[in-house]
Amino acid sequence: MGLLRGRQAPEGGNMSELKMNREKLLDKLGERWLFEKRTVTLYDQILKKLEALEFEGDVSKLQQFRQQEYDHQRSLETYIKQCGSNIRKRTPSQRAVEIESQAFENIIADTDDPAQLLHVLLDAEMDDNASWELLIQLARRAGQTDFIDAFQEAMEHERQHLRTVRNLILRLARRELVEQVSMQEA
Ligand SMILES: [Fe+2]
Ligand SMILES: [Fe+2]
Repeated sequence: MGLLRGRQAPEGGNMSELKMNREKLLDKLGERWLFEKRTVTLYDQILKKLEALEFEGDVSKLQQFRQQEYDHQRSLETYIKQCGSNIRKRTPSQRAVEIESQAFENIIADTDDPAQLLHVLLDAEMDDNASWELLIQLARRAGQTDFIDAFQEAMEHERQHLRTVRNLILRLARRELVEQVSMQEA
């Protein structure tokens, strides 16, 4: 089952639009695959640093999220294969992922502040959420509806990642504020 052959145009679309949408989908699948792969590394680096800093917040969920990112990466390899391509073929959108991921890794290497480390995860997860949403729309437009259930499941994971990371940051900010107030009052 190749992405660029053998599918019907979705209602209201013509075949050249369908072909363009399928090329776009393949580009974005490649982008998502690389992003998920680099996010596994981000989680590893951040968890290692938080442990070294003896961070007191509950990061048990972050281990689970790291595993889910890895599962997404592996699933994307399968989708790309089902589309008649493979992960060794570079796609145009992957360059931006490389630059962005490198910037995240630079921040991680440069800071010992747990709030800044978590903020990197927040940025990555916001991107993750928006990008899975886009992928679902593209799959629909490309007539690749057999991917949609799996994409929606990944999207649910991403929503939980974002909620949890946001809450960790808020809890940390509140704790730091309380500590500052009690230091001023002492
Ligand atoms: Fe992800
Ligand atoms: Fe995520």
